[in-house]
Amino acid sequence: MKLLAIESSCDETAAAVVENGRHALSNVVASQTEIHARWGGVVPELASRRHLESIGPVVEAALRTADTDVDSIDAIAVTYGPGLVGSLLVGLEYAKALAFSHGKPLVPVHHIAGHIHAPFLAFDDIPLPAIALVVSGGHTSLFLMKELGEYEILSRTRDDAAGEAYDKVAKLLGLGYPGGPIVDKLAATGRDDAVFFKMAKMSDGKPDFSFSGLKTAVLQHVRKHGIEPCASLDAVSDEVRNLLASFQKAVVRALLRRLEDAVVRHRPRSVILTGGVAANSRLRKDTKDLMSRMSVPLFVPPLDLTTDNAAMIGAAGTVAFHRGIRAGSNLEARPFATLGA
Ligand code: KG4
Ligand code: ZN
Repeated sequence: MKLLAIESSCDETAAAVVENGRHALSNVVASQTEIHARWGGVVPELASRRHLESIGPVVEAALRTADTDVDSIDAIAVTYGPGLVGSLLVGLEYAKALAFSHGKPLVPVHHIAGHIHAPFLAFDDIPLPAIALVVSGGHTSLFLMKELGEYEILSRTRDDAAGEAYDKVAKLLGLGYPGGPIVDKLAATGRDDAVFFKMAKMSDGKPDFSFSGLKTAVLQHVRKHGIEPCASLDAVSDEVRNLLASFQKAVVRALLRRLEDAVVRHRPRSVILTGGVAANSRLRKDTKDLMSRMSVPLFVPPLDLTTDNAAMIGAAGTVAFHRGIRAGSNLEARPFATLGA
């Protein structure tokens, strides 16, 4: 079975054709990074305008690359939320129009479910139950998936997502946008024991994440030590590299502490690490080390499937399709949609 999948929740216009939920026949992503970079973050109005321009050509490219057309597709999957409402609407309305004009079923997909299913496109056998650590620019959560398509939320962030913390720290230090990949690279050349950051504790004892305190602690350190924003990426001081390495260590430690507790508690047969921040070299390495110590198989999607893409929406959409999930022409964008009970 072949699904056409469409994703436009943030600043990537994406379309893919996915076969049997396991194989991406095409995976086209039009990134808007260069438009938003000069503003240091995603500007919603600019994002939706660019989505409008890109959606048609991106969907056509996905069908062409997969050597197929809409009439040969079994269903159309689309992200309905969460995300920026103006961005979501573009992909959603396009998918609806295509589905109803060609008489194809429409399958609504939650963006995070997409991230969770990304590794299923790269690995044949991911044993369930699985615990998924989803770390992106908008989300930081732990899910337990006992059966394909069943999501139980174990932890969520109370404030900033981990990727958001990376982006804000990078902005504070004048390092550009998106900050994650830049911080990752610079942190690799710094000393991670240079600055100690305390780990956030939840006053109600819940196993949730929180990254806004860490971001504030970095800000206070920058002010106290009179650190100036970097003028050029070629001249980043050791002091900044050390600060970034220490920040990154604190982020990874907070993520893995919760993951370790969840694995001890729920004894999953596999662990999935996914979302844009799963591209982070230290997070990948430390998660791998932790899971090999705990003897739990780890599945991390390849880099092109960790950041936002439509193939992952197609993978999750196929699972939803087989569970009988369908939407009508009244499907609405849900910017704050939650996943899992
Ligand atoms: O999944 P994604 O593409 O979009 C959302 O759903 O949010 O994730 C984007 C986030 C951004 O915050 C970006 O800075 C972060 O992923 N990111 C990284 C790395 N590559 C991307 N963060 C840390 N290290 C990286 N190598
Ligand atoms: Zn995402």
